Amino acid sequence: MNFELTEQQKVVRTSVRKFAEEVLGPNAPIVDKEAKFSWETKKELEKINAWGISIPEKYGGSGLDSICNSIVIEELARVCASTALTVTVHNSVAAYPIYKFGTEYQKEKFLVELATGKKLGAFSLSEANAGSDVSATETIATQDGDEFVVNGSKIYVTNGGVADISLVGAKYVSENNDKGFAILIMEKDMLGYEIGEPEDKMGMRGSSTTALYFDGVRVPKENILGSLREGFKVAMHSLDAGRIGIAAQALGIAQAAFEMSADYSLHRVQFGRPISKFQGVSFKIAEIATKIENARFLTYRAAWLRDQGKSFTKEAAMCKYYASMIGREVCQEALQIYGGYGYSKDLPLERFYRDVKITEIYEGTNEIMKAIISRQVLQNL
Ligand code: CAA
Repeated sequence: MNFELTEQQKVVRTSVRKFAEEVLGPNAPIVDKEAKFSWETKKELEKINAWGISIPEKYGGSGLDSICNSIVIEELARVCASTALTVTVHNSVAAYPIYKFGTEYQKEKFLVELATGKKLGAFSLSEANAGSDVSATETIATQDGDEFVVNGSKIYVTNGGVADISLVGAKYVSENNDKGFAILIMEKDMLGYEIGEPEDKMGMRGSSTTALYFDGVRVPKENILGSLREGFKVAMHSLDAGRIGIAAQALGIAQAAFEMSADYSLHRVQFGRPISKFQGVSFKIAEIATKIENARFLTYRAAWLRDQGKSFTKEAAMCKYYASMIGREVCQEALQIYGGYGYSKDLPLERFYRDVKITEIYEGTNEIMKAIISRQVLQNL
């Protein structure tokens, strides 16, 4: 067992950290305040090849391993969680599923533009009556010759307002009356594809979240991802990968909150000594540091399993559940260490606190993560 990062993984961490601090740092409070997606940032991210992190070079990506992918998301989130969200959704649940399950035609047509950042991707699954219960999906794709006609709507689509390409989950009815669940690759300029108003969110305000509406959108049958019958599995496997990214995101936010509060505890003097000298504070620092380390191990292990081509469903759920939970706890404790200053909008801690909360909810709530973990653990006794 080797816990050392490879040279490449170390270089990725150093270079993305520098990029995040220099390029994202000044903008992070602004995109949060203005609740505005930054197209300038999107362009800057092209320069570090952030749009196809683990996609092979053959399709325009960087061909890095999944641990590097986690490191990139972690380092972006350490500075701007909204940017990390845009990037992780694009990479893990838009580009990756096309690479994993797509036909050569789909890879040439959609993946190359996604991996090079020419186009942005989204993953549209949740609906008004189908959140945790994906099988309750009401969007319907009815086959008509060589096309599927899609009617329905999606909610809370990350990148919804900025994505050119969206993977959309729908119930289908084929010409021979076969029924099931499919993932369709849809493009924003397809007739009948409409983007809803931006959501006014508590956190992740620099990322785009909207509803999508489909009114008789005609999707060529070549755009079905994976085989028709395997759509549910394609969605579940994509979410497994996505959950490692969400864990990395929570980890990056927690790391930022930890660094700020630990540094503050060394310099803030009360009762004649730095507050780090009081056990009430030093124990908080110890607990935070341990939780972050734990979350990092779980996250990198899940990523490593994915790279080895092994099953990582349970580990992805574990790292997503744990990292998001401790992410929230760490932000809360870091803010407590800062006292009144932490509550002020002059410091980013309150933003971290608002941003981290959603990591316990999206790409599967932590209650669903526990259901997945317990099912897997009990099955394998
Ligand atoms: N990988 C591959 N296949 C899987 C799988 C996985 N991880 N999980 C399940 N499957 C397969 C099962 O083996 C089963 O196959 P068979 O029929 O051949 O046996 C099939 O899928 C159905 O599985 P289940 O019976 O477990 O399905 P279920 O209806 O009980 O649902 C669930 C399981 C885990 C609760 C699932 O519905 C789930 O993950 N829900 C959460 C949904 C979610 O994460 N939504 C977030 C959407 S995206 C988002 O947040 C916003 C964004 O913009 C990114």
